[in-house]
Amino acid sequence: MNAPSMQGLALNAPDYVKHPGLLAWVADMAALCKPARIHWCDGSEAEYQKLCQQLVDAGTFIPLNPAKRPGSFLARSDPSDVARVEDRTFICSAKKEDAGPTNNWEDPAKMRATLQPLFDGCMKGRTMYVVPFSMGPLGSRIAHIGVELTDSAYVAVNQKLMTRMGKAVYDVLGTNGEFVPCMHTMGAPLAEGETDQTSWPCNPTVKYIVHYPETREIWSYGSGYGGNALLGKKCLALRIASTMGRDQGWLAEHMLILGVTNPQGRKYHIAAAFPSACGKTNFSMLVPPKGFDGWKVTTIGDDIAWIKPQDDGKLRAINPEAGYFGVAPGTNLHTNPNCMNSLHRDVIFTNVALTDDGDIWWEGMEKDHGGVLPAHLIDWQGKDWTPESAKGADGKLRPAAHPNARFTVAATNNPALDAQWDDAAGVVIDAFVFGGRRSTTVPLVTEARTWTEGVYMAATMGSETTAAAFGAQGVVRRDPFAMLPFCGYNMSDYFQHWLDLGGKLRAQGAALPKIFCVNWFRKDENGKFVWPGYGDNMRVLKWMIDRVEGRANGQDTVFGVAPAYGELNWAGLDFSPAQFGIVTGIDKAAWQEELKLHGAHFEQLAHHLPQALLDTKAALEQRLQAA
Ligand code: GTP
Ligand code: SPV
Ligand code: MN
Repeated sequence: MNAPSMQGLALNAPDYVKHPGLLAWVADMAALCKPARIHWCDGSEAEYQKLCQQLVDAGTFIPLNPAKRPGSFLARSDPSDVARVEDRTFICSAKKEDAGPTNNWEDPAKMRATLQPLFDGCMKGRTMYVVPFSMGPLGSRIAHIGVELTDSAYVAVNQKLMTRMGKAVYDVLGTNGEFVPCMHTMGAPLAEGETDQTSWPCNPTVKYIVHYPETREIWSYGSGYGGNALLGKKCLALRIASTMGRDQGWLAEHMLILGVTNPQGRKYHIAAAFPSACGKTNFSMLVPPKGFDGWKVTTIGDDIAWIKPQDDGKLRAINPEAGYFGVAPGTNLHTNPNCMNSLHRDVIFTNVALTDDGDIWWEGMEKDHGGVLPAHLIDWQGKDWTPESAKGADGKLRPAAHPNARFTVAATNNPALDAQWDDAAGVVIDAFVFGGRRSTTVPLVTEARTWTEGVYMAATMGSETTAAAFGAQGVVRRDPFAMLPFCGYNMSDYFQHWLDLGGKLRAQGAALPKIFCVNWFRKDENGKFVWPGYGDNMRVLKWMIDRVEGRANGQDTVFGVAPAYGELNWAGLDFSPAQFGIVTGIDKAAWQEELKLHGAHFEQLAHHLPQALLDTKAALEQRLQAA
């Protein structure tokens, strides 16, 4: 071993790390961050166990009852660190216009000058973990490698479940392979002799999630939670990868990928983009309801898709991740049985509630217990919770689990895992689905008449905001392609990239995937969801497949082709044409308002906005006028 050493700190790289560039980078970063020691993660099971035990000893992990949740732990984060921080997320491209109006931008040199003193000594008294990971199957041509340096053991063990993490990555890297350097610190250095005062170190006031797209670097400071800290996920696989896709002609999308097999054994693949906490995990694990005998849905991915055009004009998609970091509240045996059955063992739960017998609980789980709430819990902040004490002045219960409480689990725990989920070649996409959370206006399902109209639907998608990000909840904001917080470049250039891709596939003589727009979330005048959702979304999924197969006529509406009531399979569900009318109705006045909002959205995105989208809007306005 003849790597550089830093002021008495041994680099201690294992012999199998043979990449001089990587070794030099780790040495530089160690010199900057000044950790007490360096741990090179090998990704082994023994290492995982050891780090989990260490987290237990530090008070970060509470081991769950091994008879109820073997191999599982509960972590409670700092209340200031419970979700992604969009207002602290930056795309530092050389030119501001390349980040576009939807991203926070800062000049790269200025940002480096800001971060330098923050990272200087940021890991004092702590261990720096070197976490090598592959997004996508190890060694596959379409995978990309990242190396995350972090002072959080919680991040290291989460990365073991979420990615292909460990020693084998170095074999792929060899002596000069490419990797995305991912710097992460909780931003909570320890003074000489100081021990942790908290079980969730983070920086409660200073947070930066920074991307340099040109040099493909990620620098994250101050948060230990989710997408802020597991840098392979949103930072690499979406923000950095979307810019790679722009340059290289492919797509990195905030999409689930599912396989759906009909009773004749014919299999289709659907990629669907819904904003954060709007149903991707649920849809990707869907269990068909009674009346759909012989239909099967299997999961390829639940959050991110990398999609590449092939020489035959087809689009193939892979899931770059290897695990799920999913929303816990609302998940139960009725809404998502496959998910519940993924969570029996070897799970890291974050910010859920703890039961008196050492198991976990969250809002929605009472549905599996006849509606009965637990008599006593420890809530996500470690406080006692009873149905009586949790009742606020408004009669509402203070939630025991944080609304953005999550589970981390390996994909291999999923009983509905698709046989091809790990296939480096990916699966051929037959249709795209876009959907937001809209209590009004947007119908249950429509199909775009053309690729361009589909791009328009996705580009103008609105959604009511959720607890997945810090900030106000429940307000409608435009979330184009569910990528608002994740597109690493100018949004209008991204729209153009989608239009160009369609043009390219068309030129290859391929049948383009169909594009659908869905909304599971229309509410009635009492604020109740009208559409049953979850497994019943199969009814809509089957109609989409019927359309792909050319077996459903649909009917033309202002906003695309919609199913007639009789075109959905209603077996086993009592859902009247009147109720169907509520979820599918297109209200002229509401749509006139909606199109005004599309206009304002397009004004914001005016720089490089494709003319084709303005033309599509004009055509929709005309249709609406005539309706
Ligand atoms: P991210 O991981 O944040 O990207 O979210 P996601 O899109 O994977 O969201 P997920 O599937 O975890 O769903 C989040 C919330 O939406 C949960 O509380 C679900 O109960 C709820 N949800 C999912 N599908 C449906 C549906 O069909 N109808 C209704 N009403 N709610 C749903
Ligand atoms: C999302 O917010 O869309 C997530 C969770 O999937 S996080 O990884 O925290 O971004
Ligand atoms: Mn997501």
